[in-house]
Amino acid sequence: MEYLTIAQKFREKFSSHPRIYRAPGRINLIGEHTDYNDGFVLPAAIDKNVIFAVAPNSSGLYRFYACDPDQDYEAGVNSIQYTRLKWPNYLLGVIDQLKKRGHIIEGFDCVFGSDIPIGAGLSSSAALESGLAVALNDLYDLREPRIELVKLSQKAENEFVGVNCGIMDQFASIFGRKDFVFRLDCRSLEHTYFPLELQNRGILLIDTRVKHELATSAYNTRRKECEAGVYEITQYYPEIKNLRDVSPDLMYEFSGKMDPVIYRRCKYVVEENDRVLQACEDLENHRIEEFGTKMYETHQGLRYDYEVSCPELDFLVNLTLQKEEVLGARMMGGGFGGCTINIVELEAMHELKLEVMGAFAEKFGIEPFFYPVAVKDGVTEIL
Ligand code: GLA
Repeated sequence: MEYLTIAQKFREKFSSHPRIYRAPGRINLIGEHTDYNDGFVLPAAIDKNVIFAVAPNSSGLYRFYACDPDQDYEAGVNSIQYTRLKWPNYLLGVIDQLKKRGHIIEGFDCVFGSDIPIGAGLSSSAALESGLAVALNDLYDLREPRIELVKLSQKAENEFVGVNCGIMDQFASIFGRKDFVFRLDCRSLEHTYFPLELQNRGILLIDTRVKHELATSAYNTRRKECEAGVYEITQYYPEIKNLRDVSPDLMYEFSGKMDPVIYRRCKYVVEENDRVLQACEDLENHRIEEFGTKMYETHQGLRYDYEVSCPELDFLVNLTLQKEEVLGARMMGGGFGGCTINIVELEAMHELKLEVMGAFAEKFGIEPFFYPVAVKDGVTEIL
């Protein structure tokens, strides 16, 4: 969405002079369902954004306007509470967290618009949280370090919205860097940037347009299954704190000794953590084909062991398997729908889209959406 349109809308509604921020969605190259297991991920911020216009007011109210779906929401500064309208909760959750840290947040006006598709696994909600957190930090000179803004944005989602997500999405939205992916250690929060050198290739997201209702409850179940596995392991290895501490060899010792479902869940996470570290070595050593192969391995793990894929995602990944022009593909994000991420030769992208469009429509009776994405900086003030 054009930031000038948002600024214009703001002036029409509130007739004051706003500051303008851009908060991006994210992709994740590899490292899925590892963040809440204290593991590693390899995300990046992208060129799809929520644009915010924000300015203080003296009305004692937080006044929000969402350009799409053309909705207003307001709350008194001393009476914010969870609302049935979904989107305000992400914003109110951030205010709630800032207040819990002892900050005084006076009334303000906020207009926002977004071109991050909702429910497609590109973290539109994290962008809402991170963008407002950075904007309010500036507006009220709160002097919270950026890392704290990441943590409180995640907490807003956990505590106010009620989704038990890990830290990856908010981290990527704030710490993303143009043309770099970064390996994030979700335990220490140490992060290392790697130039994303795909040579003549680009990143293409293919959106199944499937949004499964069960995604949130299944997500929470997976978290519990991982915890159950860790509990079993600690009976033999009390020093283990989390799946992050388990090597693949140690994991394999538990084959046949654990509930088979719990075992598969844990095995996937342990192998995926290992894969992220190896994939980063591939990137450093320009072994880009090996990197692509690992993306396919991740998909197999998510499909058969972690069981968070769906027929539409599997179909899209399988379609690319034999294609030389596709370096790697896998489902991305929480699962049960949303997008696949594909690394595709730029020259072949158009052809691929046509072919996928036809095959997918024939099989599922609906055309997928395509988003070619570029890697950009995290939350930025643009005006
Ligand atoms: C969602 C969550 C993230 C992460 C991914 C799976 O996007 O918000 O924290 O757990 O799923 O990797």
